[in-house]
Amino acid sequence: MLPVFVKDAGGGVIVDVDGNSLIDFGSGIAVVSVGNAAPRVSARVAEQAARFTHTCFMVTPYEGYVEVCEELSNRTPGTHEKRSALFNSGAEAVENAVKIARHATRRQAIVAFDHGYHGRTNLTMALTAKNMPYKDKMGPFAGEIYRMPMAYPLRWPGGREACRTDALAMVTSLIHTQVGEDNVAAVIIEPIQGEGGFVVPPDGFLRGLAEFCAEHGIVFIADEIQTGFCRTGDWFACEHEGIVPDMITTAKAIADGLPLAGVTGRAEIMDSVHVGGLGGTYGGNPVACAAALGTIETMAAEDLAARARRIGDVMLARLHKLADTYQVIADVRGRGAMLAIELTRPGTLDPDPATTSAVARACHQAGLVTLTCGTFGNVLRFLPPLVIEEDLLDEGLSILEDAFAACG
Ligand SMILES: Cc1ncc(COP(=O)(O)O)c(C=O)c1O
Repeated sequence: MLPVFVKDAGGGVIVDVDGNSLIDFGSGIAVVSVGNAAPRVSARVAEQAARFTHTCFMVTPYEGYVEVCEELSNRTPGTHEKRSALFNSGAEAVENAVKIARHATRRQAIVAFDHGYHGRTNLTMALTAKNMPYKDKMGPFAGEIYRMPMAYPLRWPGGREACRTDALAMVTSLIHTQVGEDNVAAVIIEPIQGEGGFVVPPDGFLRGLAEFCAEHGIVFIADEIQTGFCRTGDWFACEHEGIVPDMITTAKAIADGLPLAGVTGRAEIMDSVHVGGLGGTYGGNPVACAAALGTIETMAAEDLAARARRIGDVMLARLHKLADTYQVIADVRGRGAMLAIELTRPGTLDPDPATTSAVARACHQAGLVTLTCGTFGNVLRFLPPLVIEEDLLDEGLSILEDAFAACG
């Protein structure tokens, strides 16, 4: 937490009550991709709030909810018939995806991955890999969760090349020997891991996993809560390899900060649940739906997926240069406007969380909001709003370079 209290925010700048300006490379943790006060969002929210703020969709439905589901259906990968249900938070979406997959398959086991993050409710804590700070002494956790090794190129025991060839074989073999394919309801994975360190699996890993799931009647759930809605340069990160998940969870950037999340899946899977089996008082709140429609409209009108790719090009060039200068940077990775650098003791894979937080602190003091992440706390991640102006992006990168000059 930074020692500031926010007065205004927008366009990649946060202004605090003392008049300080900060450049935002965090977007409220990958949420305000269209900016903190996007005109289309603000207008739709104000208009909806003046008409009605709540009725409860399960009792007396309204159009905005259906429109968001139609957008989800049209924009998520795959042309098959889909259904969506809306909830309040990412964790709630993940919980519901698991409920639906179990109900549809009549199986119980859920496969998740090392370094994965799926939320902080009881079931999602069980799915989340990292103990401290997310889970420590907060158990007992939900059962029938099986964790598999993640295809993490930098840290794969046999090196990057081996990761490309071996990771999938290892995971499918472990599922076969330790769980049994017929017991697995779903495999859940972030196409690029978020909190776990922006881990990008080698091309082929996700595709192979999806094919394995299809072969064994396992629901393949892509958790796109952090990667979705243009962040990685496509509407959804699965599109990079042309993967069509059976189910996809969304939240964060979907509604520019208003609480909204979605589960979108194959109609036959979603429809398997009995009437009343899913729901909640606030899920798909009309004001949050209005925000989502304004957000999606902005992303489409301003082609923010292309903007994310451009941000990626600009940032990667400077991050690679930084890595050439400072040996503490062991890896530069990510896609589009979801980028990170991993810091280790030079020449080793020993994580260097101390330098990571020192650089983040130096950035904060110089007016740049950066976030750290990673299982070992040694990853600096960059998630600028997709609407950020290029000179602001450059200025933020210069602050980062100065921070490395001071600490790296
Ligand atoms: C991939 C992923 N899944 C789930 C969640 C949980 O979302 P929420 O914090 O809205 O519950 C997050 C949040 O960071 C996330 O990044």
